[in-house]
Amino acid sequence: MTAQPQRPAFGTVLTSHMAVATYENGRWNGSEMKPVGPIELSPAAHVLHYASTCFEGFKAFRRADGSIHVFRMDRHIQRMQQSARQLVLPEPDAAQLANMVRAVINRCREAVPEAPGALYLRPVLFGTTANIGAAATPTADASLIVLASPVWDYFAGGMKPLRILVDDENTRSAAQMGMVKTGGNYAAALGPTLQARAKFQIDQVLFCPGGQVQETGAANFVLIRDGELMTRSLDATFLHGVTRDSLLTIGRDLGYKISERAFDVNEMLDWVKTGEAALSGTAAVLAGVGTLIYRGAEHKVAGGDVGPLTRALRAQLVAVQQGQAEDKHGWLQPV
Ligand code: COI
Repeated sequence: MTAQPQRPAFGTVLTSHMAVATYENGRWNGSEMKPVGPIELSPAAHVLHYASTCFEGFKAFRRADGSIHVFRMDRHIQRMQQSARQLVLPEPDAAQLANMVRAVINRCREAVPEAPGALYLRPVLFGTTANIGAAATPTADASLIVLASPVWDYFAGGMKPLRILVDDENTRSAAQMGMVKTGGNYAAALGPTLQARAKFQIDQVLFCPGGQVQETGAANFVLIRDGELMTRSLDATFLHGVTRDSLLTIGRDLGYKISERAFDVNEMLDWVKTGEAALSGTAAVLAGVGTLIYRGAEHKVAGGDVGPLTRALRAQLVAVQQGQAEDKHGWLQPV
């Protein structure tokens, strides 16, 4: 067996170049390609004081024939536009942002890993107006930067079953902000996640405010059993995952019943006595849950290992992404 080359932890390595666009005087300027490096920002910048920022995460895949395809970029750009509107940031121009993404992929083509790796694209938008009094005033200026990073597994350990703390007290974010992909939501989940990690050696916290199952700090939550996929129905309180949507679509194509509705912790604990549970997201893909910890008690999910349905659904999604299964829904674009 040949030794596996060392894979960097998710997001720790960037490609050599980034695309940058700025917004001023009510319009976006043309974008530029720059070497990745420090940026100039006023210490009074709106983002540093009033958190006017949002980001996206999606992937491009290299096929065996060397071609590169980006997965559901349009949906991610639409979600970034929606995040920007909710944060009263200048909305990125969809065509310009798509061109910036393609330009970064083209400039850094050799950095797109072979399967099972991918190039993770990370556009980030932030308010740059220098005004520490602007708490109730939107930023007038902004920057949009597209970073890229060669990635493999997000959860170290690959298909190792995850340990999840079920938290029925805290919320991941302010209710109306859950669907906004903004750094503040991740900052809010960090404290509870680190506390729970120290106490229970968990990977993620599943936020279930008022006992209603919502999502984890870094991914959506899905229940799976023979013939049925269940996940919370969309509302403003949690992120409208593009991977969630892709999995539900693939599940529907495979003949699964798709149940999108509210459900509580008791129903979830009942489900995992025989069914499976998993986290879904661009980074997580579909990561199986092995243990749920609720009020100090450990509940094994599907016997404690990543279940066969989770493995099969993940394999089907990855096969579409990597061009090994038919792209029935036109999710891939060549770059
Ligand atoms: C993604 O899945 O793209 C995310 O943004 C999650 C992040 C915690 C890496």
